Amino acid sequence: MTEKKHKLERLTGVKGMNDILPSDTGLWEFFENTVKAILHAYGYQNIRTPILEHTPLFRRSIGEVTDIVEKEMYSFVDSLNGKQLTMRPENTAAVVRSAIEHNLLYDGPKRLWYIGPMFRHERPQRGRYRQFHQVGVEALGFVGPDIDAEIILICQRLWNNLGLRDIRLELNSLGHKHERAAHRDQLIIYLERYIKLLDHDSKNRLYTNPLRVLDTKNPALQDIAANAPKLIDFLGDESLAHFEGLQSLLSANNISFTINPRLVRGLDYYNMTVFEWVTNKLGAQGTIGGGGRYDLLIKQLGGKPALACGWALGIERILELLRENNLVLSNDGCDVYIVHQGETARIRAFSIAEQLRNIGLDVILHCSVDNASVSFKSQMKLANASGATYAIILGDNEVWQDEVSIKPLRGNREIMDNAQQRVPVKSLVDFLAKVIAIPQKKEGISYNHK
Ligand code: HAM
Repeated sequence: MTEKKHKLERLTGVKGMNDILPSDTGLWEFFENTVKAILHAYGYQNIRTPILEHTPLFRRSIGEVTDIVEKEMYSFVDSLNGKQLTMRPENTAAVVRSAIEHNLLYDGPKRLWYIGPMFRHERPQRGRYRQFHQVGVEALGFVGPDIDAEIILICQRLWNNLGLRDIRLELNSLGHKHERAAHRDQLIIYLERYIKLLDHDSKNRLYTNPLRVLDTKNPALQDIAANAPKLIDFLGDESLAHFEGLQSLLSANNISFTINPRLVRGLDYYNMTVFEWVTNKLGAQGTIGGGGRYDLLIKQLGGKPALACGWALGIERILELLRENNLVLSNDGCDVYIVHQGETARIRAFSIAEQLRNIGLDVILHCSVDNASVSFKSQMKLANASGATYAIILGDNEVWQDEVSIKPLRGNREIMDNAQQRVPVKSLVDFLAKVIAIPQKKEGISYNHK
């Protein structure tokens, strides 16, 4: 009887959740480093909260009648203890939860930032994923509008430092709760006139969350939404002064913006300032990021009342813009790739690699892939492909003479006298220090020994 061969089913990733491969992580790291340097420059502190939170946190903060809570949350019951959990669809609620739980505002306001994956069960398409990444800031305990302007300036600096020029700022004010309530009454009366034309979602929201109807993406409803009563016409003196104060600060800092009276954002916790950064370069998913004030959320989640504002940016969309702009990253290969042949050379190569790493160089040491020895030629091909600046070569000849050969692989040939040269092992570090700008190590650690 022939043995039936079972072909193993090949597993794939989850739809809408992407692998970020090594060919792409250089761009991610470039972005992360750029944004972190800016956040640091504005005095923001990093906060890291878990991926999973109790489901009621998001229902209470984002709002029951929102796309996120109604349709997009990855929620499940923990079968081990029956708890309702949700994979965070956004991070404002979790940061506020954490700030309350750890009493972070006990000694004054806080400027916080985060970066990481968020999860929304949306229909995947370009720029819209089920696992996506945000970087965000939450400034807790400030009244504004100066802090509103500050967080917008951070974004503008980010676009400048990334060389992105096609992103525009849209602003609106949602005012106070009582102002929204007065507007809501008029909005319902207006929308009732068009009830037959409204789509399923808009009908559903007419009495529960009519502001959301203004946010509709349905092309058939654009005219109705555009002619609806505008919230800005219902704002009182205090809200208007806040909004105008923000606009003056932005103008004084050369930030251009347009006021979009229909901008309401897709989450319910906002009041007063709201804003979005938008581009025409990415098709349907042109919103790069957004945010605003959420002065009631901390109280609503059980904390001591404190004012707050923040934003989050979609990292995938920013990287897509960088790719659209043909951003070229400088070579991010290592400094040195060491090729070697023979047992003695292998041992010496290890110690040379460690010495070079000690002085701050990035070094790849050739390691065997099987038990056969690999020719110098093949090793040199690998060295070249690695993007390394120099190859260090250690063969029998070099070993006997206590030397190494150094071959520049790219861009640095003029610095060395000839294409390949021999250097005694004992002067290798000095030699490389001369030809490679060794990075000054900024960060260090020290221990407090009691
Ligand atoms: P949001 O507008 O829901 O706001 O999301 C911010 C950004 O995340 C969006 O503008 C977009 O760039 C990106 N984004 C959202 N969903 C997806 C997706 N499915 N795929 C790819 N990118 C996506 C918030 O999340 C608020 N927490 C912002 C905030 C912070 N407000 C105050 N503080």
